[in-house]
Amino acid sequence: MDEAPAAGPGRPGAAASCHEVVKTHHTATGSVTALDGVSVSLPRGRVTVVVGPSGSGKSTLLRLLACLDTPDSGHVEVGGRRVDDRGARGRRLLRRQQVSYLFQRPGENLLPYLDAVGQVRLAARLRGTATTDEEVLALLDRLGLADRADHTPGRLSGGEQQRLAVACGVVGSPALVVADEPTAELDTAAAERVLAAMTDLAAGGVGFVVSSHDPRVRAVADGVLALDHGRLV
Ligand SMILES: Nc1ncnc2c1ncn2[C@@H]1O[C@H](COP(=O)(O)OP(=O)(O)OP(=O)(O)O)[C@@H](O)[C@H]1O
Ligand SMILES: [Mg+2]
Repeated sequence: MDEAPAAGPGRPGAAASCHEVVKTHHTATGSVTALDGVSVSLPRGRVTVVVGPSGSGKSTLLRLLACLDTPDSGHVEVGGRRVDDRGARGRRLLRRQQVSYLFQRPGENLLPYLDAVGQVRLAARLRGTATTDEEVLALLDRLGLADRADHTPGRLSGGEQQRLAVACGVVGSPALVVADEPTAELDTAAAERVLAAMTDLAAGGVGFVVSSHDPRVRAVADGVLALDHGRLV
């Protein structure tokens, strides 16, 4: 396993980066600084894992990198483009072109009424790219889902659903796939297959960033970032 990806301004060609980001969440009962000056650069073609105790800021960091939120200060880049100085519409556009976001619960990543081929085709269309059926089937085959091509999510296991979500995540070649604890609800064998799918597909040039408490995820990662109390350690 390599050292953690270098902190600091994004390297040229990075999937995503952030520089000195600070993010405070405000509630009726007080404020929590979830990120306190965090700088990371996530390479393309690699799986980077973000680890840290509960409440250390992992999900907050992933949401910033996924263009779902903006920092209070510091800046975020995805696919070489600034995120934090855009309005909601500009962020939405950048997200659609450059980012995929995978939820922990496999079912939340898929539409219940579309079969596996349909899910991948829709994901490609939403990203604004065209795919042929042959390309979709080749991708499903690569993820061990060739014989599930006409199954809807209700007829797939949790692990198969999550692998299908990974397929949807990489189609159309975004810069970054963000996955917040994607193996938390899977058994060991299923989790390992999802992780193998990520490392296999990352080689095509997409950067993956995955938060996890799961030692299996750390074991396959190309780089590990550790957060504690909103700071890199
Ligand atoms: N929307 C929010 N409103 C208020 N506080 C929040 C919000 N989101 C996160 N926080 C707080 O910010 C801190 C970091 O939360 P975050 O969800 O990023 O941690 P995490 O490392 O993902 O934790 P976990 O491992 O439990 O998922 C925590 O103290 C949390 O309570
Ligand atoms: Mg979290």
